[in-house]
Amino acid sequence: MKRAVFHRHGDPARVIELIEAPDPLPGPGEVRVRNAVMTINPADLLSIEGRYGADPITLPATPGVGAWGLVDAVGEGVRGLSVGDAVLPVGGGLWADTVVVPERMAPRAPEGADPEQAAMMRANPGSAYLMLTDLVPLEPGDWVIQNAANSSVGRMVIRFAREMGLKTINIVRRADVVDMLKADGADVVVVDEGRTDLGATLSEVTQSAPKLALDAIGGEATAALAGVVANRGVVAVYGLLSGDDSRVGARDLVFRDVRVRGFWLADWYATASGESMRDLHAVLARKLADGTIHSEVEARYPLSRVKEAVAHAARAGRTGKIILTGDDNA
Ligand SMILES: NC(=O)c1ccc[n+]([C@@H]2O[C@H](COP(=O)([O-])OP(=O)(O)OC[C@H]3O[C@@H](n4cnc5c(N)ncnc54)[C@H](OP(=O)(O)O)[C@@H]3O)[C@@H](O)[C@H]2O)c1
Repeated sequence: MKRAVFHRHGDPARVIELIEAPDPLPGPGEVRVRNAVMTINPADLLSIEGRYGADPITLPATPGVGAWGLVDAVGEGVRGLSVGDAVLPVGGGLWADTVVVPERMAPRAPEGADPEQAAMMRANPGSAYLMLTDLVPLEPGDWVIQNAANSSVGRMVIRFAREMGLKTINIVRRADVVDMLKADGADVVVVDEGRTDLGATLSEVTQSAPKLALDAIGGEATAALAGVVANRGVVAVYGLLSGDDSRVGARDLVFRDVRVRGFWLADWYATASGESMRDLHAVLARKLADGTIHSEVEARYPLSRVKEAVAHAARAGRTGKIILTGDDNA
């Protein structure tokens, strides 16, 4: 089997390497999965760089939290899965063409779903859906504002918000994505090259301030959103793309009671009931089937070219995700 590992933190393209090892055998209650598709997300790159900010990583480590694969061996006592079943392995360390996971960490992939789209289903669409449904009571006609709106999460927010009857204000840093976001259903797209007066821009498009702001950037971007949400509105920080700690204006906190909170899908999974998880997966599978969930793919690399893949994933201005494939000939 082949597996990507990093022994020290640093520039992902420099520190990531590929190792070969004997195929692992599934123990009791475990299944072995041949990953055909593995996703690359910003969180993977930040983890390799040592900037993710979650629990310290024990080195050497293997990145990867999204994959689609086929079960090719089952351990003793496995009841619900058989050889040939398509699954979406859960947990870290998935940048490997072969993984062994407990049966309960290998939920079935939605039947008939495209493997790449299914592998990407949980992390970004799941986060977008939960942020719109779990954080603030929203009603049709309410406004939501977000930055990094052309990210995969951002585009899902736009599509789900439109289905829910919500209106979206979407901040991006380049003009060439405006039409794409309008086609997704964005009501307003603001191209901010660093000098935009967000308050003035918003007052031109709506009388009612957003109740919810979604921040993927941190630093000054958090303060900008906190400055335009409604009194007692919520700013949910869910990404650290700038690498800077969030700043928030004290006036917004004191005089307008703006609430700043975080959102982390891993924490949601750690604390959600089995029923909530099944409900979320059922919603996502439906949205995958009806085409609402569709993430663009800019390039595919076999796992053996993982260095090129991570270098490509780290480039600004991509038009879609970078995917790793388990098959060298794919
Ligand atoms: N908290 C959670 O549970 C959770 C779950 C999923 C994702 N996330 C986070 O969500 C964010 C988006 O992830 P994704 O997979 O959807 O991203 P993606 O599709 O790979 O797109 C990356 C986006 O980030 C923008 N960007 C990159 N660096 C930036 C910077 N310094 N300032 C402003 N914009 C920047 C890019 O803009 P250009 O196109 O202009 O380059 C692009 O819109 C990431 O921070 C990720 O870690 C968090």
